Amino acid sequence: MHALATQRLDLEPMNESHADMLVEPYLDPRVWTYLPHLRPADEDAVRARLKRWLSPPPPELPNAIAFENWIGFERTTRTLVGTFQATIIQDFSATIGYIVLPGSWRQGYAVEAMTVVCDHLREAHSIRRIRADMYRDNEGSAAVARRLGMIEIPPPNPTDRAFEKVIR
Ligand SMILES: CC(C)(COP(=O)(O)OP(=O)(O)OC[C@H]1O[C@@H](n2cnc3c(N)ncnc32)[C@H](O)[C@@H]1OP(=O)(O)O)[C@@H](O)C(=O)NCCC(=O)NCCS
Repeated sequence: MHALATQRLDLEPMNESHADMLVEPYLDPRVWTYLPHLRPADEDAVRARLKRWLSPPPPELPNAIAFENWIGFERTTRTLVGTFQATIIQDFSATIGYIVLPGSWRQGYAVEAMTVVCDHLREAHSIRRIRADMYRDNEGSAAVARRLGMIEIPPPNPTDRAFEKVIR
């Protein structure tokens, strides 16, 4: 996995050394408002989450080839801004996920980071279809997907929304 750079952010490939700095931000309940099933209960749960992300995809995801995870820092201040993710799937498609920490919300960071991640998926992995899923009420996440040029598609279940971008 490559380090990526945006105008304001350095996106470093996530590794186990980042766990310490992610424990406190990931215990902030505001991060999980629309992802309540993923909210870690304690420090051990945060560390376990990271370990899972840094491992090969589990058997429950038989079509997934790899997880790619980046941790984003504002370049001049080294402020931790968020974490950004892609799952590469066998059919040249990928799903994406993004978490910007509350102190950095609404400054354009999610769109800035994920634009570069999507470019990377196309260039390095020949990805031709990118998908984002979110909880129905997660207006911010849906706005990010739209700003990435994704089109809303029918969701797998009524509590969710789904967006997709086909790259030609
Ligand atoms: C959703 C989230 C990623 C947005 O990150 P962000 O860096 O604040 O988003 P950006 O600043 O890049 O904003 C992109 C667009 O989303 C809009 N937006 C951001 N947060 C919003 C919110 N809470 N409600 C409505 N719109 C929102 C912005 O106005 C902007 O739209 P515009 O360009 O049309 O003005 C961030 O709030 C977050 O990480 N939340 C918690 C975790 C989460 O829900 N992740 C998504 C899981 S599917």
